[in-house]
Amino acid sequence: MKLNGKVAAITGAARGIGKACAKRFLDDGVKVVISDVDAKGLGATAAELGRPDALRTVVGNVARRADVDQLVATAVKEFGRLDIMVNNAGVARNRDILEITEEEFDEIIGINLKGAFFGVQAAAKQMIAQGGGGVIINMSSVNALLAIPALATYAMSKGGMKQLTSVAAVALAPHNIRVVAVGPGTILTDMVASSIYTSEDARKTVMSRTPAGRGGEPSEVASVVAFLASDDASYITGQTIYPDGGRLILNYTVPVKEK
Ligand SMILES: NC(=O)c1ccc[n+]([C@@H]2O[C@H](COP(=O)([O-])OP(=O)(O)OC[C@H]3O[C@@H](n4cnc5c(N)ncnc54)[C@H](O)[C@@H]3O)[C@@H](O)[C@H]2O)c1
Repeated sequence: MKLNGKVAAITGAARGIGKACAKRFLDDGVKVVISDVDAKGLGATAAELGRPDALRTVVGNVARRADVDQLVATAVKEFGRLDIMVNNAGVARNRDILEITEEEFDEIIGINLKGAFFGVQAAAKQMIAQGGGGVIINMSSVNALLAIPALATYAMSKGGMKQLTSVAAVALAPHNIRVVAVGPGTILTDMVASSIYTSEDARKTVMSRTPAGRGGEPSEVASVVAFLASDDASYITGQTIYPDGGRLILNYTVPVKEK
C-alpha cells in the first residue's frame, strides 16, 4: 500500500492497460479518475471495478486539450489534488508507409503524442499549483525504438514520446515532479488483437522475437506503473522502462517454444 491516499488520473482506461492500471491503483488505496473517448466502455469498466468511494469517470478525447484539462479538474474537484497522471490513451493503425494520409498521420500523432503532451502540461500545472511533487507516467512502447514499417505512425508517435518524457523530466525536476515512461512489448489487449496479431503468422513472428515465450498481461504493465508512481522509484526520472519479455535485448529470433 505504498500509494495509499494518493490521487491518480488515467487516460484511455475503458479497457486494456489503462483499465489494469486503474484496478491496480484502487487495490493500492489510490483514488482514481479514469477517462476514455468510449463513453459506453468507460461506464461498463467503472461498474465492473466498483468502488464508488474512490473512482470517478470523465468522457474525453485526449487529442483535445480542453478534455484533458477537464480530467485533471475532475480529480481536483472530486479528490482535492492530483499526485499521479498516467497518459495511457493510444491507437495503432496498420498501414503501408506510402499510403498513410495526412488525416491518418494527424490522428495517430494527435492522440498518442499530442494527447500525452496535453496530459503532461495539465498535470504539471496542477502539481505545481498544489506546491510541487508528483509523478507523470507516459505509456510508450518498444516501438519507441523498434522499426516496424507497418506501424510507422505509431512508431513515430512513441519515438516522440521518448523525448517528451526526457524534456519534461528535466523541465519539471525543479518542481520535484518526476516524468517517466513505460514501454511495453506485446501485451494481450484489444489493440494487439486488431493491429499486431492480424494473422497466425504475425503472432508467430512476434513470439519468435519474445524470449519470454508469451504475450504479457495488462496487470504486468500496471505493476510497473505502480512501482514508478511510488517513492521506491524516487530517483528515476526521464527514463523509459520496458516490460517486454526480453524483446529489446534480443538479436536473433528465438525458436518458437511457446509456454
Ligand atoms: N497492448 C500492447 O501490446 C501495447 C504495447 C506497447 C504499448 N501499448 C500502449 O499502451 C496504451 C494502451 O494500449 P492498450 O493495448 O490497452 O489498447 P486498447 O486499444 O485496449 O485500449 C486503448 C484505450 O484508449 C482509448 N482511446 C483511444 N483513443 C482515445 C482518445 N482519443 N482519447 C481517449 N481515449 C482514447 C480506447 O477507447 C481504449 O479504451 C497505448 O498507449 C498503447 O500504445 C500497448
